Amino acid sequence: MRTVAVIGAGQMGSGITQTVAQFGMKVLLSDVDIALAEKAKANIDKAFARLVSREKLTPDEATAALARITPVADYAPMVEADLIIEAATEKEEIKHRIFAAAGKVLREDAIMASNTSSIPITRMAVSSPDPARFIGLHFFNPVPVMGLIEVIPGLATSKDTVARTRAFAEGLGKQVVLAEDEPGFVVNRILLPMINEAVFVLGQGTASIADIDKGCRLGLNHPMGPLELADFVGLDTCLDIVRVLYNTTGDSKYRPAPLLMKYVEAGWLGRKTGRGFYDYTGDAPVPTR
Ligand code: CAA
Repeated sequence: MRTVAVIGAGQMGSGITQTVAQFGMKVLLSDVDIALAEKAKANIDKAFARLVSREKLTPDEATAALARITPVADYAPMVEADLIIEAATEKEEIKHRIFAAAGKVLREDAIMASNTSSIPITRMAVSSPDPARFIGLHFFNPVPVMGLIEVIPGLATSKDTVARTRAFAEGLGKQVVLAEDEPGFVVNRILLPMINEAVFVLGQGTASIADIDKGCRLGLNHPMGPLELADFVGLDTCLDIVRVLYNTTGDSKYRPAPLLMKYVEAGWLGRKTGRGFYDYTGDAPVPTR
């Protein structure tokens, strides 16, 4: 792959863009407004500066990688892309609209991928021009640091698409897990019930936010406790994934914790809004309960 297009300049889209540019490919980055893609590029510049100050990247490598990123105002320039990666919000109707619109410029030899964390690939593929060239490509946050990518073929995805996508993922220095198109794939099917259960534990007053996280950090050796991880991922994204698990399986074991729904209704979405289970407005995060 020489040119990759990324649709969505949020946390995941920015991380994907940074990584792909660092690995020598050109990236076309879009969002609903080009200003958002430009802002993401400015933040990536800061991330490169940190890597340079830690001597993980030379100044020349950082300059070259940044120059490979081009914010674009619409999908037309993506005709140049060998791979289009959708990393927009986890709302299925928005994704369907993106696949149909970007599909108009998708070349006949190019692949279209979704970074969805849980929406079925087979169902989304129907909005793309060719379901044989549609695939799930699930990155983990923070993308430049995490070593895994899940590759998820839909029912109609061709073997050639799987092989080329896998080679692209491995070319980014990541390990690949191949997952069937089942709700939550592998990692989120396991992670989200844990996060949801942590919110039940909190809601039932079993322990404080700090102790639930401390318990999992020290008792399980996880780098973050489940509630700080939920804030990191975004509570709205967590709830969206739990709802997909619940709605697609109909299994009551996946019912969302009422407190998780309340936090999302309150707009307390985690780090990105300055408040979730922790308050991020001061120097260090402070538990809110
Ligand atoms: N670009 C490049 N490097 C970065 C970076 C970025 N944007 N952000 C952090 N890093 C690097 C730092 O440079 C640092 O590298 P060195 O140790 O080599 O110097 C390293 O990452 C650790 O960073 P920090 O020292 O700042 O912080 P930390 O030690 O507390 O680690 C963390 C931060 C990597 C996020 C760690 O807490 C962690 O691994 N947390 C769990 C993350 C996780 O589980 N992610 C998956 C979420 S689920 C998901 O994403 C899927 C989904 O669909 C919901």
